[in-house]
Amino acid sequence: MQTDILVIGSGIAGLTYALKIAQECPDKKVTILTKTQSDETNTKYAQGGIAGVMDTEQDSFFKHIEDTLIAGDGLCNEKIVEIVVKEGVDRINELIKWGAMFDKEPDGDYKLGKEGGHSEFRILHHKDITGKEMERALLEAIKNAKNIELISHCFVIDIITQHHLGFLVTKSTPDIECYGVYVLNLNNNKIEKIIANVTLLATGGNGQVYRTTTNPAIATGDGVAMVYRAKGRIENMEFIQFHPTALYEAGVRGQSFLITEAVRGDGGILRNANGEAFMGKYDERKDLAPRDIVARAIDNEMKVNGTEFVYLDCRHMDQAKFLEHFPNIHEKCLSAGVDVSKDMIPVSPAAHYSCGGVKTDEWARTSIHGLYAAGECASTGLHGANRLASNSLLEAMVFAHRAFKHSLDHLKQPRENVHDRIPDWNADGTTAPTEMILITQSLKELKLAMSDYVGIVRNNERLKRANRRLDLLHEETENLYERTEVSPQLCQVRNMITVAYLIVKSAELRKESRGLHYNTDYLERSAILQNTIL
Ligand code: FAD
Ligand code: SIN
Repeated sequence: MQTDILVIGSGIAGLTYALKIAQECPDKKVTILTKTQSDETNTKYAQGGIAGVMDTEQDSFFKHIEDTLIAGDGLCNEKIVEIVVKEGVDRINELIKWGAMFDKEPDGDYKLGKEGGHSEFRILHHKDITGKEMERALLEAIKNAKNIELISHCFVIDIITQHHLGFLVTKSTPDIECYGVYVLNLNNNKIEKIIANVTLLATGGNGQVYRTTTNPAIATGDGVAMVYRAKGRIENMEFIQFHPTALYEAGVRGQSFLITEAVRGDGGILRNANGEAFMGKYDERKDLAPRDIVARAIDNEMKVNGTEFVYLDCRHMDQAKFLEHFPNIHEKCLSAGVDVSKDMIPVSPAAHYSCGGVKTDEWARTSIHGLYAAGECASTGLHGANRLASNSLLEAMVFAHRAFKHSLDHLKQPRENVHDRIPDWNADGTTAPTEMILITQSLKELKLAMSDYVGIVRNNERLKRANRRLDLLHEETENLYERTEVSPQLCQVRNMITVAYLIVKSAELRKESRGLHYNTDYLERSAILQNTIL
């Protein structure tokens, strides 16, 4: 199959880019691939909202920039922060034009929420299901674009580069080029090659490498793993953000339900097992300190008190307002036996967001020619060592737009026609899988190692142990991959092992505690600020 523009991922980054480029280039064919249903994305689960300076009387670009830089703990790229904050407002307005609805006050002004690390109320939201509303509006708009084809249940396995033409490609090869991808089309169970003039990677996050995460099952870091295999640049993978407040439900593993930080923005208070409001002991901003601080404080309280959760107390809040702003949370808590007007909500931290990823420049270009990246899979320099709440949807839209702008130039460049030389997928020597247990057990072991050794608090011994476990899992899985017909399950576990390795390796390289990376062997900060590039 051949297409002009290939988009991998149907979350906010992929859909925004596809819509823009399809509109600007009506004669070009845009193909979006997504590995499960089209709306099953991290985007769909976003709750709190999207940060933007909409009220210029009280708020300002300067304040939003400052808040982002403070959260990022010295590692943000200031130019990128300025770009995102300033251009973000136009992107939000475009989203509104595409039909996304945000909550309004009776006078017609947008209702603005507040979350940890924000000095002002600046978060637009649609009740507590903002992401679902955005995804809905974008998918509706896509339906009306005649030159976009969205193919669901198409699992991208690898990016095609010169390596597939028989050339040796290493990290130091100049001008590695992306020609397209190999995909496992689950609609016909065939492995196909899709050749494209330009490709956008928008594959989202990797929360699934941990046992407890707010991310859905699709968040397995495929894009990062593919780029790493293709010898592209990856950076800052040690900065995994743990959301402080996922609903604690005994025995529930995999995706945990999020209790948005906006609940604390509206007055929710964290309490430990003794009922003590503990955040004042850790930070003067108390419950609205940046996420790394709150998650570490909760982790410490759970360890000190020997509990698996702390509480979020909302009993004192105006219950009518709570129901209006957080109907989904209210309903979910009730179904778990928690009446927020009478009971405190049991919560614990869960892996939530990957601040690092595929290294990109200000135009969303990766180190691989013809391959752009936007959204959670990219590392743009916005988040530094810790992401400010509600900045990721904004970042995804700003860089989807910038990738779109730059792709227009890319499409004008002449390209060598290598299509006929790209081989079909080679499945020689592989047989149908006989034992799924080999994959599911590896996955369990991986999640356990990452949660126990590479979580909120790390040290050198734990990282070393994680590395040893990963070595073994890598060896066994590569062996399985060589001799087994590929399946999404096998590819995902392979990708997750790669992503876990990148997290551990980057964590080992960072000989300091900074932002989300907290290593008790290096409590001091280094004077030299640097990214960990792999
Ligand atoms: P996603 O929306 O995750 O989309 C990824 C896409 O890639 C999917 O379509 C998937 O199928 C596809 N894909 C992946 N791998 C493959 C493959 N191998 N082959 C084919 N397709 C593939 N951020 C905020 O700013 N504000 C919030 O309020 C907020 N709340 C959040 C709440 C939750 C519970 C979670 C999990 C995240 C939240 N975030 C929030 C973060 C934010 O939602 C994500 O960072 C953002 O939505 C990521 O968008 P994306 O387009 O990069 O990826
Ligand atoms: C939340 O609603 O608490 C999540 C916001 C985010 O991840 O940015």
